[in-house]
Amino acid sequence: MKTLLHIDSSVRRTDNEHPGHNSISKQLGHLFVDTWMNLNHQGNVIHRDLGLNPPDFITQDWIAAVFTPESERNTQQQALLRLSDVLIDELEQADLLLITAPMYNYGMPAVLKAWFDQVIRINKTFSFDLARGDFPLAPLFRGKTLVLLTSSGEFGFEPNGIRAHMNHLGPHIETLSHYLGVDSVHKIRSEYQEFADERHAQSLSQARQSIVELAHQLAGHPSPERSAT
Ligand SMILES: Cc1cc2nc3c(=O)[nH]c(=O)nc-3n(C[C@H](O)[C@H](O)[C@H](O)COP(=O)(O)O)c2cc1C
Repeated sequence: MKTLLHIDSSVRRTDNEHPGHNSISKQLGHLFVDTWMNLNHQGNVIHRDLGLNPPDFITQDWIAAVFTPESERNTQQQALLRLSDVLIDELEQADLLLITAPMYNYGMPAVLKAWFDQVIRINKTFSFDLARGDFPLAPLFRGKTLVLLTSSGEFGFEPNGIRAHMNHLGPHIETLSHYLGVDSVHKIRSEYQEFADERHAQSLSQARQSIVELAHQLAGHPSPERSAT
């Protein structure tokens, strides 16, 4: 049985009175999960909406607790690390990690960064050894696949695009995902939201099509187009 960890990070909901206010990235995430689950009846989904339930920011006491050997942590330190322990446990179970993210100020939402800070933890998700020379960090998990679905108001954030140099969302998440044990990344973008024009409609429609195809691929099924031929 495959486990999918589904992380949403837009602060927008998907049940607003005005549908135009609904989160695009979360709707794309739901499309992926629904398609994947339809093909994977045995699949297990763990869902966290960080926009609705933001993780705590880490603190100096949190860092001190992390660097205290587990057997020596006092009850206060254990409590400080409880959320991190739970989030890492969810990650450990996951074969497939789905992250949906809006672009905020050319990067990821603060709630998603807070999640990464809670999850990328020494001796839990990565080890640190100076014997490795200039790259002492190594992930402890492996074999996970990341599906990253993003939405932005502007456009041209793809490699060689007109705003590629301003894209601190996808590249940042991809860099961090290595320390989660991800070794395969699939990225799908919806752009142009702020222009609300035909380009946005087309970008969204293309993203939805790519998501359905990717969900088929990752569930080990031929894509709808290919199975029709
Ligand atoms: C606080 C904030 C910052 C944003 N910053 C950017 C940005 O830097 N670049 C961009 O292209 N769009 C930006 N946008 C537009 C969002 O990326 C866009 O509305 C996206 O659809 C939001 O994702 P969601 O629909 O899942 O909520 C910003 C929106 C908000 C609310």
